[in-house]
Amino acid sequence: MGLMRVVRNRPLSDGVFELELSAPPEVLGAAPGTFLHVAVGGGVFLRRPFSIHRTDPQDGTAAVAYAVRGEGTRVLSQTKPDTVLDVLGPLGSGYSLPEGARRVLLVGGGMGAAPLLHAAQFLKGRADCDAVLGFASASYAFALDRFEACCRSLRAVTDDGSLGVKCSACDAAARLIETERPDAVWACGPEGMYRAMQGLGCFRNLVCQVSLEERMGCGVGACLTCSCRVRAGEGWEYRRVCADGPVFPLGEVVFGG
Ligand SMILES: Cc1cc2nc3c(=O)[nH]c(=O)nc-3n(C[C@H](O)[C@H](O)[C@H](O)COP(=O)(O)OP(=O)(O)OC[C@H]3O[C@@H](n4cnc5c(N)ncnc54)[C@H](O)[C@@H]3O)c2cc1C
Ligand code: FES
Repeated sequence: MGLMRVVRNRPLSDGVFELELSAPPEVLGAAPGTFLHVAVGGGVFLRRPFSIHRTDPQDGTAAVAYAVRGEGTRVLSQTKPDTVLDVLGPLGSGYSLPEGARRVLLVGGGMGAAPLLHAAQFLKGRADCDAVLGFASASYAFALDRFEACCRSLRAVTDDGSLGVKCSACDAAARLIETERPDAVWACGPEGMYRAMQGLGCFRNLVCQVSLEERMGCGVGACLTCSCRVRAGEGWEYRRVCADGPVFPLGEVVFGG
């Protein structure tokens, strides 16, 4: 458990905020895809999990980008600079770069873009990185300038065509895979995006890692609130998103049911 001071808390786009925290070395050096479990205060009982969005080791800050959804994130959006928050982390097991990988494609759907900026920061100097980010509409897009600064290329697409091509992140990524032939895909987005990816051979034939979201209790593997299903032999078994993930190989995750 650590206490972290709020440096800034500001809107990034429609309903999306960035919370910047004064962070200890273990958070500044966290693996991409890991998360912070934040006690938001204001009488909200359980902690809320948020992926690390970016770090700035020179400033000693780390940020999460969050969408306002319910009570916890509403309280968080009203948190003022200099407030001290009780934060657990970094938690979980993040994305890993396969041995010898030189090109990574980042695929984000909606708030799934949040951890991928930290991933792009991590990849700088380690592998070439291209990003495909899909949003419902231009007004929800965020951090595009930061992605442009870290990535070799960025394609932003939208469901309504208000920014970039009108298509899904999955379809835009599938097209890019044909030309760029990445060695690995690191993805974060909604379940529907992952189901679509599982249906396409181009993702099945690559090392493809996806970050899952489940409601969480403890965040450290003790309460089993966050179970997901992964393939095991002819069947499947439960894994804990908080401790065994949140990042899993796309081909191993069993959705639905
Ligand atoms: C490992 C991990 C990383 C995450 N990273 C981010 C991030 O970087 N940015 C971000 O905006 N959100 C992220 N989330 C989701 C975020 O934790 C939830 O949106 C947040 O906890 C909602 O809290 P709330 O009190 O505002 O909403 P609540 O009032 O608790 O719920 C509002 C709505 O959101 C749904 N919901 C709540 N928690 C989750 C969840 N964990 N998964 C799916 N649906 C949920 C509820 O079912 C309900 O419909 C992450 C979740 C996980 C598990
Ligand atoms: S949240 Fe408790 S085991 Fe994952």
